[in-house]
Amino acid sequence: MSRRVYLDNAATTPVRQEVLDAMMPFLTGNFGNPSSIHQEGRTTRAAIESARKTVAGLIGASTGEIFFTSGGTESNNMAIKCAVTDLGVKRIITSPAEHHCVKNSVEHLKELHLVNVEMVRIDKYGMPDFNHLEELLASSDIQCLIWQSFQQYVRNTERGCIQIRCRRLAIIKSTCSKHR
Ligand SMILES: Cc1ncc(COP(=O)(O)O)c(C=O)c1O
Repeated sequence: MSRRVYLDNAATTPVRQEVLDAMMPFLTGNFGNPSSIHQEGRTTRAAIESARKTVAGLIGASTGEIFFTSGGTESNNMAIKCAVTDLGVKRIITSPAEHHCVKNSVEHLKELHLVNVEMVRIDKYGMPDFNHLEELLASSDIQCLIWQSFQQYVRNTERGCIQIRCRRLAIIKSTCSKHR
C-alpha cells in the first residue's frame, strides 16, 4: 500500500497539539470579542495580553512591539505601509523573489507616487546580489526600506532554494549599517 508523505512544510505546517490545547477554550467557550467590555471580552483580552507578554519575553522585545495579525499578507502590508506613512520612507529596495503580497504592496505605493521602488538583482536560485545592493544603497541617501523577507531569505518557498542565512544576513546588516 502506498503511503502519502507531506513535504510542503515550508508553506504551512499542522498546528501543534499544545497550541491547539491553549487555543481551544477561546475557540469554543470563551469566544468574546477582546475589544468588548463585557466579561467574555475581558477574559479574551486578558489571554491576549498574557500571550503578548510571553512572546515579547521570548524575543527580548517590549509588549508594545508585539502585534498579532492574521498572517503573512497582513503583516507585510502593515510593516511596509507603516514604514512609508510613519517613518518617512521614500525608497524601497526589494527583490523579484519576494512573495506577491510584498510586490503588490510596493507597486501600489509606487503607483501613488509615495516611493521609488528598486529591485536588487537575484541569481537563478533567488539569492540577492550583494554587490548590486551595495551599489543601490550608495546611489542615494533618501530614507530607504530594504525588504527581504526572512522566511523568503532562509528558505525560498517558491523555488525550494535554501540560502546560507547567517553569513548573508550579516552581509545585509553590515551593508545597511555602512549606508545608515
Ligand atoms: C514570505 C511570505 N510572505 C507572505 C506570505 C503570505 O502569507 P499568508 O498566506 O499568511 O497571508 C507567505 C506565504 O507563504 C510567505 O511565504
